[in-house]
Formats: sequence, C-alpha cells, structure tokens
Amino acid sequence: MVAKILGIVGSPRKKGASATMIDTALASAKETGAEIERLDLVDYNVKNCTGCDACLKPPNECPLSKDDDYLKIEQKVIGANAIILAAPSYFSGVPVLTQNFIDRSRPMKMAKYKLQDKIFAAMGASGLRQGGGERIVDQLNAFALTQGMVVVGGLGHPVIEMNSPIATLQGEDLKAFRKPGEDQLANAIAKGLGKRVGNLIAKLIK
Ligand SMILES: Cc1cc2nc3c(=O)[nH]c(=O)nc-3n(C[C@H](O)[C@H](O)[C@H](O)COP(=O)(O)O)c2cc1C
Repeated sequence: MVAKILGIVGSPRKKGASATMIDTALASAKETGAEIERLDLVDYNVKNCTGCDACLKPPNECPLSKDDDYLKIEQKVIGANAIILAAPSYFSGVPVLTQNFIDRSRPMKMAKYKLQDKIFAAMGASGLRQGGGERIVDQLNAFALTQGMVVVGGLGHPVIEMNSPIATLQGEDLKAFRKPGEDQLANAIAKGLGKRVGNLIAKLIK
C-alpha cells in the first residue's frame, strides 16, 4: 500500500511562503515513496460556518455543503494518510480561508472522528520575525488534536532546527525582506518534516 500525503496551502497566495513550504515538504515526502498531492484552499468555494449546529446530530451533515465545494476538500482529506497544513499569520491568526476549512470540518469530528489517527503536521508563515507564526502552528495543531489526529514535527538537526517550520520574510538584517521561499531555515525544517511524515506513514501502513 502506498502512503498518501496531502499538503494543504491555507494562504490565498499560491506562490507565497506557505505554498513554498508545502512544495518543499511534499517533494521530500515523495522521496520516501509516498504519493503526494497539493491542495490550495483558495481554489475552493467554502462558505463560513453559521453555527447552526446541524452537524451535531446524525447524519452529521452540514446544510451548506449542498451549495459549495467543501465536500471536495473533505473527500481528499479523508483519502489521505497524512496531512500537512501551512498557513500564514494574519494578525497572528490563520486567514479566513483556513478558518473556514477548519470550522466546516466539524461534521467529521461529530461523525465519530473520521480523521482519527491520521498523521498531521503544521507549518506557519509570517511577514515579520515574531509576527505570529508560532501561534499559527499552535492553532493548526489544536485543530488536528481536536479532530483526533496524531500531531508530529520534523526530526531535523537537534541543535539548530525546531520541529515545525515558520517562514518569515524579515531576515537577519531587519530592514531586508526576502522573497517567499528564501528562508533557508524554514526550507530545511520543511524538508525534514516531509521526510519524517513520509517515513512515519510508511512504517505505520506496512
Ligand atoms: C491581512 C494580513 C495580515 C497580516 N498580519 C500579519 C501579522 O500580524 N504579522 C506578520 O508578521 N505578518 C502579517 N502579515 C504578513 C503575512 O503573514 C506574510 O506576508 C506571509 O508571508 C504570508 O504568507 P503567504 O506568503 O503564504 O501568503 C499579514 C498579511 C496580511 C495580508
């Protein structure tokens, strides 16, 4: 059985820092033999949750799903063994695009944890150093825990690499801003994260 890893870009920008990290992690995961797919949330029309609570009762369906693209995303998420989700910091929180996906995923939890035991890894991006990237990783990991997924990080260099990549545009020279994809540390951690997720899934599904 081949492991399927889904990388989700939670930024409206398809060539931004979140997208670059997803591409890096997926390329690395592919080297472990996994099947990879990238999904950009911006390509889907997902309405915001209205709080009607219809999903609490069987058949745990969202009335909005009749009229938007949410179920197309859900199908891909359910079909994956592992999910890597990257999102930028918008005022230290995830953009509405990502939040809508998270909120609308509630029926999967209510239908007895449909995402239970899937491997999950988070990545954050911010314009500024200390611009909220760590909060993004925490927020995404909280989503995964609430959905019953198994949260993992990378196993890169133990002294110089943290376990979840956080890309910033502001570099070492405080006034020098780099382009998305130019944060070397975030790239290295994203690469290690993809490898970890790929190797872990391979062990678990064999
Ligand atoms: C509406 C909005 C709010 C933002 N808020 C913050 C912020 O609070 N802190 C920060 O460091 N960067 C902030 N940024 C900058 C983005 O986090 C940064 O450009 C990031 O690289 C975007 O990720 P992406 O390239 O994956 O789209 C904000 C950008 C936008 C558009």
